[in-house]
Amino acid sequence: MAEEGRVTAESGSGSLFTNVISEIFTSPINLVLVGIIALLVYKIIKHKTKVEAPIHVEPELPKLKRDFTVEQLKQYDGNGPDKRILMAVNGSVYDVTRGRRFYGPGGPYAAFAGRDASRGLATFSVVPGTDEYDDLSDFNSVEMDSVREWEEQFKEKYEYVGRLLKPGELPTNYSDEEEEGSQQEVESKSKDD
Ligand code: HEM
Repeated sequence: MAEEGRVTAESGSGSLFTNVISEIFTSPINLVLVGIIALLVYKIIKHKTKVEAPIHVEPELPKLKRDFTVEQLKQYDGNGPDKRILMAVNGSVYDVTRGRRFYGPGGPYAAFAGRDASRGLATFSVVPGTDEYDDLSDFNSVEMDSVREWEEQFKEKYEYVGRLLKPGELPTNYSDEEEEGSQQEVESKSKDD
């Protein structure tokens, strides 16, 4: 009798681990629970060891200040080496590079990139317009108002670069203008002193 008790106690403590294992594998509910726990542990470990993908930030391009002919503007359709995108509206050129998702290659308004978008904007057309200079002289007052409204939007959102030149028109030398401006600043400062 005493021997029997000793055997039970021995086998009880010695096989606790085996009992737990066999309990798990004999009950389908326990098996499912173990599976869920394993999955959660795996997810936690995976999450902790995950390396964050570096965020790709496009470097900002230097500001441009110059006038463009229609021909020169064409080079800035977002396919150039610096991927800059320029667009003209109502005779003014804007740098719309930060609107790449709109005007970049494959974007919904890619037809405006590197071009005078005035006619397309006024007539709600995203089909590429003429390759020649467009003087918009056939526009009625509604279309002209529409172009002006669009220009206001661009002025607010994007950087002004310069004028779109008519054929034969000469570009403004903005570096002279800046020098003049800084010269005036120097002069007015020395007067103040
Ligand atoms: C089914 C027709 C159209 C839909 C659903 C649509 C939708 C949109 C939306 C949602 C925006 C604002 C995007 C944003 O700010 O995040 C937008 C902007 C714009 N849309 Fe459209 N559009 C349509 C047609 C046109 C057409 C025909 C033109 C041509 C004149 C046009 C020209 C523009 C321009 C220039 C912008 C401003 C992009 C910027 O902020 O630089 N859209 N459009």
